[in-house]
Amino acid sequence: MSAALRTIGVVGAGQMGRGIAQVAAQSGFTVLLHDENTSALDASLGHIGGQLERQVEKGRLAPAVRAETLARLQRVTGTEAFSAADFVIEAVSENQALKARLFETLDRTCAPGVILASNTSSLSITRLAAATRRPARVIGMHFMNPVPVMELIEIVAGQATSGETIEETRALAKSLGKTAVQAQDYPGFISNRILMPMINEAIFALYEGVGGREDIDTVMRLGMRHPMGPLALADFIGLDTCLAILEILHAGLGDPKYRPCPLLRRMVEAGRLGRKSGRGFYDYAPGGAPA
Ligand code: CAA
Repeated sequence: MSAALRTIGVVGAGQMGRGIAQVAAQSGFTVLLHDENTSALDASLGHIGGQLERQVEKGRLAPAVRAETLARLQRVTGTEAFSAADFVIEAVSENQALKARLFETLDRTCAPGVILASNTSSLSITRLAAATRRPARVIGMHFMNPVPVMELIEIVAGQATSGETIEETRALAKSLGKTAVQAQDYPGFISNRILMPMINEAIFALYEGVGGREDIDTVMRLGMRHPMGPLALADFIGLDTCLAILEILHAGLGDPKYRPCPLLRRMVEAGRLGRKSGRGFYDYAPGGAPA
């Protein structure tokens, strides 16, 4: 655990926020977890409890450590509580206006010098920083899903992010047991600039009838040793999220190679969003397991 940091604030208790909160609590930090939606907050805390319980059952975690970890997780119903945070990570929905409003509020609430990090997968860190009076202390900290499993954090330096902020964020990533890479603040950073065109191309291959869904996914799983095929991965990420990121790449880089496949657009319009809606390229049972 980093010597100067004790308390991490996490805003947003969705899939990413709850994963970040779990990893931070398991790494010894006190965690303030907040979500405007209190039932989502409760569900997330229940989910983390369940994840830790599974580790106990597998004999990987002592019951006492589970109890200590849960005791470090605090349910927070208002952002005022973040005045006690040493570092804040925002993980709310990918909506520029929502995030900018939140950064303005956090800037007013948090002690001067506290780093405000965003888990955004594609929005501009520079624009978020501009909503605050501390742009040098604003940074991107892009975790991968599922957060407890994936080893990477992509650190994104905005136009004004200081070298000290980058170094302190790297140190935090290390304390969380993750490996950090640094990307500049351009659309999609490194991860989604490379991942989303691959997923989009897989959808084009399906759309144009080059192969069936299993064929496409099997090529990438067995032929390229990806843990999941690109269509299964798109379902896992959420087809709406994939579409939104592709739109940002397309608009921000201006290159037609990023145009989203019409099939992706049509599936999102139909509400086939992947695991979270029970249906995407594949069908899922309640809870997200493949049907
Ligand atoms: N939360 C916590 N742990 C989880 C988990 C979750 N949601 N899902 C799986 N795990 C754990 C399991 O408990 C299991 O742990 P143990 O081995 O310790 O028991 C381990 O992960 C393996 O799980 P499974 O055996 O159930 O399944 P699997 O071997 O098929 O692995 C997977 C599942 C880890 C998700 C794997 O398929 C994988 O790595 N897929 C690719 C995921 C990926 O690419 N993520 C990045 C998405 S892009 C992104 O996040 C950024 C963006 O901006 C879009």
